[in-house]
Amino acid sequence: MADDVSRLWLHVLADSERTGNALLSDLFEQDKARVVNMTKTLSDGDSEIVVDFSKQLVDQPALKNLLQLAKTARVVERFVEMCGGAKINFTENQAALHTILRADATTKLVVDGHDVVAQVHTELEKLKRFVEKVRQEKRFKKVVNIGIGGSDLGPALIYDALSASHRSEIECHFVANIDSTEINATLGQCRPHETLFVVCSKSFKTAETLANARIARQWLAKSLGVAVESEILAEHFVVVSANTQQARIAGVTAKNEFQIWPWVGGRYSIASAMSLAPIIAFGFGAFEEFLDGMRSVDEQMQTTEPEENITLILGLIDVFNFGTRRYSSQAILPYASAMRLLPSYLQQLIMESNGKSVRQNGEPTEIATSAVVWGGVGTNSQHAFMQMLHQGTQIVPVEFIGFAQLPNVDAESHDALMANMFAQAKALAFGEAQNPESVSTAARHRAMKGNRPSTTLLAKSLNPRTLGALIALYEHRVFVHGVIAQINSFDQWGVELGKSLSVEINKQINQSNSAVNDSSTKSLIDKYRQLKSKR
Ligand code: F6P
Repeated sequence: MADDVSRLWLHVLADSERTGNALLSDLFEQDKARVVNMTKTLSDGDSEIVVDFSKQLVDQPALKNLLQLAKTARVVERFVEMCGGAKINFTENQAALHTILRADATTKLVVDGHDVVAQVHTELEKLKRFVEKVRQEKRFKKVVNIGIGGSDLGPALIYDALSASHRSEIECHFVANIDSTEINATLGQCRPHETLFVVCSKSFKTAETLANARIARQWLAKSLGVAVESEILAEHFVVVSANTQQARIAGVTAKNEFQIWPWVGGRYSIASAMSLAPIIAFGFGAFEEFLDGMRSVDEQMQTTEPEENITLILGLIDVFNFGTRRYSSQAILPYASAMRLLPSYLQQLIMESNGKSVRQNGEPTEIATSAVVWGGVGTNSQHAFMQMLHQGTQIVPVEFIGFAQLPNVDAESHDALMANMFAQAKALAFGEAQNPESVSTAARHRAMKGNRPSTTLLAKSLNPRTLGALIALYEHRVFVHGVIAQINSFDQWGVELGKSLSVEINKQINQSNSAVNDSSTKSLIDKYRQLKSKR
């Protein structure tokens, strides 16, 4: 670390220890303006998200030092550089230009001799024409998205989140796993003439996606009574990839192909043609609103002064919680059934981005990086795992995400839902007042000490614009933590070894030769073979 950053880091560490030992109730008592100062609103058009981070174990002096750290480490400047095409993904010598996917057509940016804004908008126009045609023709009743990771979680989240507010005559299914149970169950619900397969893969080398696309083609060919190579099949396939040539090599011929680009990471590709399935379902207009929501947060992150920059502040609180205090897990709790997929989406976004331990200079990080991200929908979580969050031995910072207006929810049940969300945040923060006289064993078991940090995000309504804003907010928080920890948030080398080993082991399973493995892996392969053939 540069000297001045190191010096500030020491202050942040000291603050983290001091406020980590403080009582939230005291922090509220000492600073009467705490709620006002620690509540900020992100608003743009129809979208409004109130962010209350007053229940975090942080105070104004700590926040001041965190903001100073961000200024000294040039976090916002680095963000602007990223949006301007800097090759911030230094291990792959790539830009990370997901913000360009939602940039205004008037934005000017040339990267490696390519006008990337023009490329994006040409593709968006093509996408719009295709989507409108599919929706008008009404030929396809089902869209099956085949893809995994970022080529699945983003479009699935949009589809689920907007299904309650947006009527669709087209039903979407999402197939990811190499376990063919998923695709077979989906195909069982589809009629071949009415089914469109959207095969999403940035690389088009992903084993799961290739296997599922192959099964889909075989099913379609058989059902339509044509050969697997038949041209007719291409009408039922769309390819979304940065390598459409590779799709053809893999035998996935599609009448329609859409581009993404090497400078978009899979987990950052939600604003691209990767979201084709929900765009077909809900129309291009809804997608444009989604992009508007993302763009407004991109702009807010770049132009708001640090003290008011809620995206930056939340990123810094992540640094505080997970980087300095080293809390090892983070719970994402949306209080809206429509947002049930948000924890899985954020799991990939945060863990695949910041699950790293080496700095740009090759040295190990001194700052802890990604926590384990998990979660579930409220109120179900309360009856499953919230016990641990209230009384367990580990502190798990929580993100509560609620909506003041939810489509398809009765007024009474909506109030009950929100009452539960507010109650959980309150119980975590303040627990229950203790009777100092009561030291009985029974009382100790029931004690709710509180002091467990959370942030509450309360949006006006669940609409495409708000969904886009929420996702961009989390993307940029990841960026902030990555810059402070000096890691590369945009590569994912850690998943490569497992991929190549699985190819090798798959060959060994079928060749009765597992000798090249360690003794445990060899034994497991041998046992698997034996059990497979046992009656
Ligand atoms: O293996 C990890 C990963 O590369 C993710 O980053 C990505 O979202 C997913 O696999 C799918 O990759 P692709 O879109 O290239 O099929």
